[in-house]
Amino acid sequence: MAEEIEIKEGLQGVYIAKSEICKVDGQEGKLYYRGYKIEDLANYSSYEEVCYLLLYGKLPNSKELADFNKKMKEERVIPENTKDIIRKFSKDSQTLDVLRTAMSSLSADDSKPYSEDENENIEKAIKIITKTATIAAAIGRIKEGKEILEPDNSLNHSANFLYMLTGEKPDKDSEKLMDVMFILHAEHSSNASTFATLVACSTLADIYAGVTAGVAALKGPLHGGADEAAVKMMMEIGNPDNTENYIEEALAGKKKIMGFGHRVYKTYDPRARILKSYLDKIKGNSNEEINALIEISLRAEKMMIEKLGKSHGIWPNVDFFSGPLYMHLNIKPELFDTVFASSRTVGWCSHVIEYWRNNKLFRPLEEFIGKIDLEYLPIDKR
Ligand code: ACO
Repeated sequence: MAEEIEIKEGLQGVYIAKSEICKVDGQEGKLYYRGYKIEDLANYSSYEEVCYLLLYGKLPNSKELADFNKKMKEERVIPENTKDIIRKFSKDSQTLDVLRTAMSSLSADDSKPYSEDENENIEKAIKIITKTATIAAAIGRIKEGKEILEPDNSLNHSANFLYMLTGEKPDKDSEKLMDVMFILHAEHSSNASTFATLVACSTLADIYAGVTAGVAALKGPLHGGADEAAVKMMMEIGNPDNTENYIEEALAGKKKIMGFGHRVYKTYDPRARILKSYLDKIKGNSNEEINALIEISLRAEKMMIEKLGKSHGIWPNVDFFSGPLYMHLNIKPELFDTVFASSRTVGWCSHVIEYWRNNKLFRPLEEFIGKIDLEYLPIDKR
């Protein structure tokens, strides 16, 4: 008798590796990077410090952080051929498509893209993390018909990113908010894009190939595209007073509300909670359009929690409140996923470096349910 095969759709509930990088507690709504609470990192760390923590496995001391900051600054400039690639895409192209191609081109600037040496791979990771922010800003500028700006090394990673994108140095509040956005999107264990990165690198493809696969997997609305879809829904709602009717109708029509639900979190995503606290701070203090989006997001959140929270375990995820916050920072919806990808490069690289310590080629199985031994007819007889 044929063996009973159990298929785990979407690999739900399947563990693929042991890891010390990130703990997601989906029942309690807790998230830790290398053992540190996400709330502490968002409150007290910088994105650079979080990158150091994820890559090296410990928080840096002052000297280590200063050296790391210097290294990151040295890597900001992107090669001319990467700039040309960005310029050559049509203005109508999706920004993540441009990033995917530009990201892939970074390997051309490395005489030895694959290495077995962990320190060399950390150097490559720093290059990828840093240059991807420059690429993301450049894509945003080209999309608006503006010239690419060179980095300003008097600024930290987040302030420099906003400067390269908008041409203006941000104030302290905007700089902090951008930093928090980068930190909250930096890592999230074996999600779809991290898994895609690991699958590519498990073949011993180089780290550039891995992160390019990560960008590809991030694109869809079930993953990195959800924040743009969520804010577009808020724009469609338009007037805050339409919120409840819109959500009611959408749910009645079995539509998913983007920015809600999660494979692992069955309670409030702690990242969304942090973002909501920033939303509360800027509520009423942004421009009219963003103030309205904030009100819509808060009313939608309240209603969704009442309808699907406790009863179905569908709560806000990191993507629900991101949109109005990115827009407050002058980041347009079409660039959200690209900024997300730029933040996540550190998570992807940290996982590859860890996985290579005990690499095993990913090669799952499918249960074949097609026919076999069919008669092969010549083409004129079919
Ligand atoms: N709105 C309404 N209903 C939902 C939502 C939602 N956002 N999410 C899940 N559900 C419902 C589904 O319709 C399904 O209902 P059913 O059992 O009656 O058919 C049930 O909950 C289970 O949903 P699945 O999609 O099968 O569960 P899965 O674990 O695969 O879902 C996912 C996780 C893909 C994130 C899902 O919640 C979703 O599509 N959410 C919207 C997209 C989104 O916000 N993605 C970002 C995730 S965070 C990140 O990637 C950074």
